[in-house]
Amino acid sequence: MEARLAPAADARFGDYQTNAAMLLAKKLGKNPRVFAAELMAAFDGTGLVLEPEMAGPGFINFRLRPEALTARLEGLLADEKLGAARPQGMAARRLVIDFSGPNVAKAMHVGHIRSTILGDAVARIARWVGHVVVTDNHIGDWGTQFGMLLVAWKESLDREALAADPLAEMERLYKEMTARCAADPVVREAAKAELVKLQAGDVENLGIWKEMIRLSQTQFQAIYGRLGIEFDHMLGESFYNPWLGETVDALAAAGIARESEGALCVFSDRTGPEKDDPFLVSRDGQWHDNPSLVRKADGGFNYTTTDLATLVYRQREFTPDQIVYVTDGRQQLHFRQLFAIFRRWYPEAGVQLSHVWFGAILGDDGRPFKTRSGETVKLADLLDEAEERAFALVTEKNPGLPESERRDIARIIGLGAVKYADLLPNRQSDYIFSWDKMLSFQGNTAPYLQYSYVRARSIFRKLEGEIPSLQGPFVLTDPAERALLLQLSRFAEEVPRVLEDFRPNLLSNYLFETATSFHSFFEACPVLRSEGEAKITRLALCELTSRVIQQGLGLLGINVPEKM
Ligand code: ARG
Repeated sequence: MEARLAPAADARFGDYQTNAAMLLAKKLGKNPRVFAAELMAAFDGTGLVLEPEMAGPGFINFRLRPEALTARLEGLLADEKLGAARPQGMAARRLVIDFSGPNVAKAMHVGHIRSTILGDAVARIARWVGHVVVTDNHIGDWGTQFGMLLVAWKESLDREALAADPLAEMERLYKEMTARCAADPVVREAAKAELVKLQAGDVENLGIWKEMIRLSQTQFQAIYGRLGIEFDHMLGESFYNPWLGETVDALAAAGIARESEGALCVFSDRTGPEKDDPFLVSRDGQWHDNPSLVRKADGGFNYTTTDLATLVYRQREFTPDQIVYVTDGRQQLHFRQLFAIFRRWYPEAGVQLSHVWFGAILGDDGRPFKTRSGETVKLADLLDEAEERAFALVTEKNPGLPESERRDIARIIGLGAVKYADLLPNRQSDYIFSWDKMLSFQGNTAPYLQYSYVRARSIFRKLEGEIPSLQGPFVLTDPAERALLLQLSRFAEEVPRVLEDFRPNLLSNYLFETATSFHSFFEACPVLRSEGEAKITRLALCELTSRVIQQGLGLLGINVPEKM
């Protein structure tokens, strides 16, 4: 266990609590309570905290001085990073974040949504804190599926359907071919032949392939545009094609890959414990080889080969401290093997490799989320429905607003709800997709947080332009003010914490607690009817709350409306 200074679990005992005395006492072989008392006697918290107090087996509790808190209010109002910038002296890290990664000739489906939303949130947070971030979208634009698609394109493309809905038509071709290939070895051979021609640079096949990429990109961009997501790079799998041959040659020459049944494979080097070895599987109480293929028996390269070439390229081109891959949990073995091969190949490389994986999105029935007719749900349709449903809600609440304004608000609420529902659960859990829950104005939802923002801003509208300058001296007269201010100042702690294990849900939960704390304050403390320093302090708390919620949601890729 690591020593931590954490918010106190029970506010009655203090604001912060540490287990440091207990952990140190154990190391030193001392009585924890006695040692905690010694530490407290030596502790100098002048100006910041009141006398620390001991609790339980040796916890030390701290309570902030009121003047330290009000000074914090002043500092936060003047700080556009709201306290969450990387501390001076802490070096910026260079991060490559690989996320989204949709596949060409297929519509983006809900499975890509989590990668896209999580990856974007992580990138925004890392940048906010002051790290150097490179985002890269590893689009699936190469591979065996193109052999099949080429056959189908040449034999049964419906040009009209392609013009009307390119991805629907390409998907139709793909489905048709999957069935034909399964049934007929001749078709399978034809697909292989087309793939070989493509890989050899055949002009016609390259032309068709490029057309498929172009059509797919247009659709991807439309979705990224709606979601407000941008990438620094979109280096798809095909980009690495020129290096695949030398990648496997180098692995073979280094003795890392060897031939087995015609394929080139990486086996376990038997250096670590079996249970941690990604090249072994346990079956019937025994360990069996579970090699990773880097070149198939037919000479073709695969996903792993591409990812190895990609890793080497990123290492050289971006010199990152860390590379973060955001994909679903079913790719865990792939990444464990990939990282292990890379470590054997480049034992000196200091780069940290992280697979940030996530669970599935389920329907009400607890099975993978599907449309009524059992099809996978397309992301574009899902976003349309989110906006439509939000529009109905906004219209119900605000029938008097002009339609264009209701549409704008509905877009912000609908997309925000979808993103937030995705970022709220622990990323490794599956979650059940529920429109009613995510669009509810009550509970831990985006609309509730957006509404809290609107409520905090409403006070300033009521002042009708006569906004006093929010300068101290500030005074805290009500416990609800103190609780809110303490909560607001914790933005600085919660935002960087997301990056420790890439868990944006920590920020979601923090924002929900902030909104709840704000509503309690707002019920307990009249703002406009108060006077003098109390009024200015309360206005300052409203101002800071609105900024914390706006910025916090912004870090999750979610906007706020000014009315709702
Ligand atoms: N295209 C892949 C998929 O749809 C995701 C790519 C993830 N990134 C990577 N470097 N492998 O599953």
